[in-house]
Amino acid sequence: MGARPNLQKPDFFTEQDIDAVAQAIRARVPGFTPRVGLILGSGLGAVAEAASEVVARIPYAELPDWPESTVVGHAGQLILGTWAGQPIMLMQGRAHYYEGYTMAQIGLPIRVMRRLGVQILIVTNAAGAVNPDFNPGDLMLIRDHINLIGMAGLSPLRGPNLDSFGPRFPDMGRAYDPDLRALARDVAAARGIAPLWEGVYVSVAGPQFETPADLRFLRLIGVDAVGMSTVPEVVTAVHSGMRVLGISGISNRANLDGNTITTHEEVLEAGQRMTPRMAALIEGVLARLT
Ligand code: HPA
Repeated sequence: MGARPNLQKPDFFTEQDIDAVAQAIRARVPGFTPRVGLILGSGLGAVAEAASEVVARIPYAELPDWPESTVVGHAGQLILGTWAGQPIMLMQGRAHYYEGYTMAQIGLPIRVMRRLGVQILIVTNAAGAVNPDFNPGDLMLIRDHINLIGMAGLSPLRGPNLDSFGPRFPDMGRAYDPDLRALARDVAAARGIAPLWEGVYVSVAGPQFETPADLRFLRLIGVDAVGMSTVPEVVTAVHSGMRVLGISGISNRANLDGNTITTHEEVLEAGQRMTPRMAALIEGVLARLT
């Protein structure tokens, strides 16, 4: 364990590698089978405090091959427990491509989740608004994504296909489950969580924020919100047959005119402001999953 430094880039993981991580987690929570996986993005880590019954907290550093989060605002631990009656496996912080990880490393936690029994992935992120109607602090359900970093080659599925997870050429036509989105809209209406936008998320590699010309291009191709995560995780989840609900927290207005400055501090601060609404939305969805 820990023999391979985290940033020494394995190109692919084998089923044995994935099973070893799953086994390390099982040993910490005997008999516990998570059904829902949750990933909390930048500034949203405190959403985890709403999870009612914690069975185990496992720092990423204690798991073999697990990519550690090097970014401020990402706690870097796994929480297993129960929230709103659902057995969950929650990642408080995630790894990003810009940190130096390979796409295989970013996909690894999702495959481990699947091996442990997770069927539904709820993924959150902080995102910049490209849609001019959005304001910092708003929430957006992801209806679809544009895989800008993946279309030209950076896929977590590159390499030998692991047939026990899914097919070589997985369909992405319904990557964001329409029933889960409808459920989230119902919960938001019932709990007064507004506005709840729905739109297209684009993944960029980062870590630099976009130029005004980048943003005008993204708007032109149909983007509503832009961020540096989520898509590789969703692709990995859909490949392995998981249903996905994606929620972006809008942290900043896109600098379309070049007159504003975007900072990571602003992103974290907006994340903290929307944490109670994000937690209420997720809790409501968990409570109503059948
Ligand atoms: N651009 C890219 N990623 C982001 C942004 C942004 O404006 N805000 C939060 N993550």
